[in-house]
Amino acid sequence: MAMEFEPLHDDFGARVNGIDLTDALTNEEVVALHAAIDEYSVLLFPQQNMTDEAQMQLTSALGEPEENHVTFGRTGEIVYIGTVGNVIDAETQHDESATHTRSMKGNNLWHSDSSFRRVPSYVSILHAYEVPGEGGATEFVSQRAAYERLNPDKQSEINDLHVLHDYVFSRTKTAPVHDNHAASLPPIEQKLVRTNPHNGRRNYYAGSHARSIIGWSGIDSRRLIDELNDSATQAEHRWSQNWQPGDTIFWDNRCILHRGTGYDADRYRRNMRQTRVRGTGPTLDE
Ligand code: OGA
Ligand code: MN
Repeated sequence: MAMEFEPLHDDFGARVNGIDLTDALTNEEVVALHAAIDEYSVLLFPQQNMTDEAQMQLTSALGEPEENHVTFGRTGEIVYIGTVGNVIDAETQHDESATHTRSMKGNNLWHSDSSFRRVPSYVSILHAYEVPGEGGATEFVSQRAAYERLNPDKQSEINDLHVLHDYVFSRTKTAPVHDNHAASLPPIEQKLVRTNPHNGRRNYYAGSHARSIIGWSGIDSRRLIDELNDSATQAEHRWSQNWQPGDTIFWDNRCILHRGTGYDADRYRRNMRQTRVRGTGPTLDE
């Protein structure tokens, strides 16, 4: 059965039927998935019978897995799969007071995963095993559609700018960042405007990790970055995923912003697993 794509929002997104992501993918399927990522930016695959092993195999089929920066920063250990939510393993479930839960709330600011790495992420893959009875949605917006809505003068004004992205800047807004972790993630420079190498469509690349515009004052930097983030994330531009167990989502971190909406970790279990595919190089080389 061939893959079928059903659009989710005018700006981006498709629900995909007709593929079992836990099977070894054929070359044709891999090519079709990359093309669908370029076109739709967010892909929702319902009813996947996922396991960590299958998710790793899927991630490797799409490119080079990116190591989890939290574990690597803190301990130096390389792992490729990360827990999202409050269920760590069969024995460990965190409540609202846990440091882990507070750190996870950084995900509730609009962001692009790993935009603070020199080689940022291409796509993230998130799978839901257990979902809260209320809350716990993930929202998405397209910075490609947002760029295309800018008038041509504004596009020219921002086209050649560079931006400093800084994990510690953004995440200390919600919780302290462990010293080792902070030391592993110095601020890095990215292009503000990126171009998809396959379809030529442009987008801006901002989000909460974007701290300042290179060469600009703080006040002017914040004015522009806040303006771009605000215009991308207006309610009518959002698509919200209300997770069902078995849902797998890919999102294109090159052009999508996402955020969690939060849930009550004292009352509910949220058990999700995430992997990331590394981008092809620094944005400055694009
Ligand atoms: C993530 C993320 C948001 C959420 O997994 O990268 O930001 O809803 N998740 O948990
Ligand atoms: Mn994220």
